[in-house]
Amino acid sequence: KSFLQKLWKGNVSSKMLTPRLQKARREYLRANKLGVSFNGKQKNSRKLNPQELLCVLKDRAQVQTLDGREAPFSNLGWEKYFPKIPLNKLYPRGFATCAVVSSAGAILNSSLGSEIDSHDAVLRFNSAPTRNYEKDVGNKTTLRIINSQILTNPNHHFTDSSLYKDVTLIAWDPSPYYADLHMWYHKPDYNLFPPYEKHRKRNPDQPFYILHPKFTWELWKIIQENSNEKIQPNPPSSGFIGILIMMSMCQTVHVYEYIPSYRQTDLCHYHEQYYDAACTLGAYHPLLYEKMLVQRINQGTEDNLLRKGKVILPGFSSIHC
Ligand code: C5P
Repeated sequence: KSFLQKLWKGNVSSKMLTPRLQKARREYLRANKLGVSFNGKQKNSRKLNPQELLCVLKDRAQVQTLDGREAPFSNLGWEKYFPKIPLNKLYPRGFATCAVVSSAGAILNSSLGSEIDSHDAVLRFNSAPTRNYEKDVGNKTTLRIINSQILTNPNHHFTDSSLYKDVTLIAWDPSPYYADLHMWYHKPDYNLFPPYEKHRKRNPDQPFYILHPKFTWELWKIIQENSNEKIQPNPPSSGFIGILIMMSMCQTVHVYEYIPSYRQTDLCHYHEQYYDAACTLGAYHPLLYEKMLVQRINQGTEDNLLRKGKVILPGFSSIHC
């Protein structure tokens, strides 16, 4: 069986990756730059069934954003910068169906655009455009998750680009494992705080949140506890974070080209001429393990997976534990 067929069945391990990606994973494990110390259960625990896994996610993956009430933000007078309405109250009635659109090159030539736009809310990532790619990715964007590099790297033109206007923005940055907000504030991976403050002052009406690092590390722990190998000691990808955020807001979540379809390619992003299998299978992020977890809770058909790269997940409100 091919690697892809094994991935669709949820039966892959790091040993099936290319030597380069295996080495990258080992080196992140050795360096452990964010000081991860995991002493939760692992290998010998029973493999949870899909329903149990969904209940763990619903119970523990509660979205949390900074609200300025915790130090150091409270001492810095930051309460006024964070949106008054918390993210979990922003859409009080939620959405019936939602689309999460991964940025993978494999979405090219999918003609999924109109299907994606038919959802009530659409989540996209980082600098992924819709213009000129409507046929394959659609043109509706409700929310956008951005990492701290988007805010800090001038190449992304965060202040001017229309990609970041008229949408709900959710930013995140890798923090040390213990998610000490003081340590993180003084030494973020990329310093997103000044551009965030500036953007909030200029655009006070745009919903724009910063994820609490506790949330991303809780997701990491759930992935690690349900994998039978040591996963990279780095936060999950924006894709995984986004899937869980949408599960808290939507009755049903359709995820496109996160788990690759038969169109799988090393083309990293549909909008860039850059080839690297790590974008799909992971080097820094524990992508392989995230994807295996998502495969296990997929309620769509295998045909949807291999032809559309589509996974269908129940939102938390549809899960009864
Ligand atoms: O690269 P970037 O993080 O901006 O892409 C958004 C998300 O799409 C990733 O975090 C990852 O979850 C997903 N992705 C993928 N395969 C790719 C590229 C992106 O699964 N080749």
